[in-house]
Amino acid sequence: MRAKLEAIHKQAVEELKKAQSVTELEDVRHKFLGRKGVLTQQMRQLKAVSAEERPVIGKLANELKEVLSSELSKRSEELDQLQPREEEEGGLFDVTLPGKRPTLGKLHPITQTIELVEQIFGELGFKSVSGPEIESEYYNFDALSMTDDHPARDEQDSFYIDEGILLRTQTSPVQIRIMEREKPPIRIIASGKCFRRDATDASHTSMFHQVEGLLVDKRVTFGDLKGVLEVFVKRMFGSEVRMRFRPDFFPFTEPSADASISCIICDGKGCSSCGGSGWIEILGAGMVDPEVFRKVNYDAEKYTGLAFGMGVERIAMVKYGINDIRLFLENDMRFLSQF
Ligand code: DAH
Repeated sequence: MRAKLEAIHKQAVEELKKAQSVTELEDVRHKFLGRKGVLTQQMRQLKAVSAEERPVIGKLANELKEVLSSELSKRSEELDQLQPREEEEGGLFDVTLPGKRPTLGKLHPITQTIELVEQIFGELGFKSVSGPEIESEYYNFDALSMTDDHPARDEQDSFYIDEGILLRTQTSPVQIRIMEREKPPIRIIASGKCFRRDATDASHTSMFHQVEGLLVDKRVTFGDLKGVLEVFVKRMFGSEVRMRFRPDFFPFTEPSADASISCIICDGKGCSSCGGSGWIEILGAGMVDPEVFRKVNYDAEKYTGLAFGMGVERIAMVKYGINDIRLFLENDMRFLSQF
């Protein structure tokens, strides 16, 4: 039996060397190590060997099995290196098959909305600027006539970082920073993150985005405010959309207004999206309060200004028919890939 095993080894090694392809090599493996292979058959005959010899021969046979396996793998690697890949020869590679599409990243819908707003106002001559997200109470509130005891401050419950230092609750402080630095005429748009201590629900998140607009010059009128916003609304939501103003109150504008658009779902007839009213409120606006001009040393007799502020999430929700603000923060690709 020992001699038989050696003969098998020799024969297998010879055939291995002759094998010129992976398929031929597989045949060799099958012939010797397969279920009905030569070595396997031989091992079945161990029963016939005497009891003393059986462990020794059994061990030999197992060793031979391992040796053959490893020689097969070695030869397989050799062949792999020797043989030019069939694909390279043009055999398996089908040039007519469609390629793999690379997955392209996209800007977040909020970023896309900000860019669109900035583009529309950019065409009207508004320059994009930015301000700090960590703001002092002076810029965030006081300079905007929102003093300590002002009720409007309650609506903007804030995250304080230190005495007098907070995460800005609105982008309006950028107005002040710009007017302190530059003289009229001013035409700016400022976008960015804002923070309020609001409980999260379908229409509130503690971090959100605003876009602020400011135009200061001689003879700027409420009519200009309406005109500028009318152009914006039609470019943003469609030329058939109507806009209306209603009186509102902001401490830093006088008079103040809120602007609504005719519901883009029901075209103003009234549906569940607009709460049956036919109108959707989208922004706050007004004429810069002379008191604000005084804070930045502008001559309120000489200049007038218009200002407006809008929530970017709100604009995006209205434009794309999104009913839950939290979707913007969940990073669900099924949602994001639609924009
Ligand atoms: N900052 C205001 C808010 O967060 C929005 C706003 C209203 C900005 C009127 C303005 C404005 O510039 O004129 O509620």
